[in-house]
Amino acid sequence: MENASWGHLVRENPPLFHLSEVDSTQNWLKEKARTALDPGTAVFSDLQISGRGRPGNKWLHLPGNLAMSVWMPETPEGMTFPWTLLAAYSVLTVLEDRIGKSFGIKYPNDIYRTDSGMKVGGILVESHGGRGDLIGIGLNRKDPHVPDGGGITIPDRPLPPDPMTLPLLIQDRMMVCLSGELSHGEIWRFLDDRLLWRGDWVTWSEPGKNKMGKVLGLGERGHLRLLGTEGEGEVTLPVTVRSIRRITA
Ligand code: BTN
Repeated sequence: MENASWGHLVRENPPLFHLSEVDSTQNWLKEKARTALDPGTAVFSDLQISGRGRPGNKWLHLPGNLAMSVWMPETPEGMTFPWTLLAAYSVLTVLEDRIGKSFGIKYPNDIYRTDSGMKVGGILVESHGGRGDLIGIGLNRKDPHVPDGGGITIPDRPLPPDPMTLPLLIQDRMMVCLSGELSHGEIWRFLDDRLLWRGDWVTWSEPGKNKMGKVLGLGERGHLRLLGTEGEGEVTLPVTVRSIRRITA
């Protein structure tokens, strides 16, 4: 199906749309979500000219990179994991199946290559008026910040060159997460095993103060476990903290 405003419908169930160019897939999906959308409706675009990152950053896009957004209902009752971690789980399982276990999660939203320690992808979750969430996923085959370098492409383990495979597979995994077929224990153990910066000291900001702690692991409900520095033992990173910084020697 082809329609000027909806682009090309790659598959109907769940709906996946393909655009050749867009300002931001988040904006596009937000606009479409003014009418009822099926859970898991997704869009990807060959070009994204005003992509958004966190917090309020621009997200640069080179041709061939993945820019996709998925519409999900508000985190359903009983689902303990936030969408950001379920999206990270979906992306990591797809990359591992295709490329191998070469990627990890930098809590809570970033996908890194474990060999180079470079960021190759990010997840941006935006709430849409209490009706649902827009889950934006950017993955770099080529890193816009590194000339000829970085990205998810590993020599000898190429990804299919077509632009459809990754969005189809990631959307499939997101639907599995939505269906509740997977136990939370399974998702938690998978992500905890791929958590980066374990044992490292990190800082973060809370209202009125900067805090510091040592990363211990991922908790069963998807929270970050840290060793505090004020004699309080193990602490949990507040869910309102969207970014941590590693302290380097
Ligand atoms: C981050 O800052 O790490 C999150 C980046 C999220 C980028 C993706 S690309 C597809 C979607 N559309 C956007 O405008 N942003 C997200």
